[in-house]
Amino acid sequence: MGKITISTLNKMKTSGEKFVCITAYDATFSRIISEVGAEAILVGDSLGMVLQGHDSTIPVTIDDMAYHTECVCRAEPQSLVIADLPFMSYPAVDEALVSATRLMQAGAHMVKMEGGTWLSDTISKLVERGIPVCAHLGLTPQSVNTFGGFKVQGRTPKEAKSILADAVEIQDAGASLLVLECIPSHLAADISSKLDIPVIGIGAGAGTDGQVLVMHDLLGLSEHTARFVQNFMEGQSTIRGGLKAFVDAVKSGQYPQEEHTYS
Ligand code: KIV
Repeated sequence: MGKITISTLNKMKTSGEKFVCITAYDATFSRIISEVGAEAILVGDSLGMVLQGHDSTIPVTIDDMAYHTECVCRAEPQSLVIADLPFMSYPAVDEALVSATRLMQAGAHMVKMEGGTWLSDTISKLVERGIPVCAHLGLTPQSVNTFGGFKVQGRTPKEAKSILADAVEIQDAGASLLVLECIPSHLAADISSKLDIPVIGIGAGAGTDGQVLVMHDLLGLSEHTARFVQNFMEGQSTIRGGLKAFVDAVKSGQYPQEEHTYS
C-alpha cells in the first residue's frame, strides 16, 4: 500500500471499493494498522473512554489530542491520519484555526469535527487555510448530554431530513470526508449516494463508502459494546490477525451485516 491521501479515498468511492479506518492512539498500533492495509487511522477522542477511562469524550483536551497524534504519526504510517478536534476546541472560527493548527503540526493530515450547518463557516475557513476537514454527523458523542445518552439518531423523518441537509451543507462548505455514526442504514446509504465526498460509517450499515471502528471494540477489549460492533479477535490468535480480519471483512463485504445495523 503506497501513501494514502484523500485522492485515494475519492478514487475508491468512484470505483466502489470499500475502504477501512481504525482508531489508533500510539505508534505501535499505528504501524500495525498501516501494515494490515487500513487506508485511514483516526486518532479519535474516543481515547477519553478507551485509554483514560472517562464515561464520555468530553474531558479530552487539545493537549491530549496533540500528544496522541504525535505518537501515531511518529510511526510514519502509510494510512491517512485524521485527528479529532475535542470538545469545545472549535466553538468559533478563530479557536478552530488554532486547535486545528496544533493537530496538523502534530502530524495529522486532516482534522475531524462534530456538527452540521453551524460548522459551515469554520469548515470553509479551515479548508481555505490548507486544513482538510472530516465532518461527523448522526450520533456525535461530544453532544451526548444533549441527546440524553448514546442513542441512534435520524430515525424520524424530521431528523433524517436534517442530517441529509447538514451533510450536503458541510460538503458545499468544503469538507473532504464525512463520518456518519449510528443512523439507520437506509439513511446512511442515501446520504453516501447523494454526496461526492467519501462517507465513512460506524453503526450506519453497509451502504457507506468506508467503515470505521474503535480499535478496542473490534479487538473485543471493551466492557460494553453497541449492536454494530463485531469482535474480530474470534478465531484469531494475534492482535495483528484481528485487525487484518476487520480490514478483510469490510473489503469483502462481510462486515457489517444486517445484525449490525439500525432501522
Ligand atoms: O473518537 C472516535 O473514535 C470517533 C469514532 C467513533 C468515529 O469519532
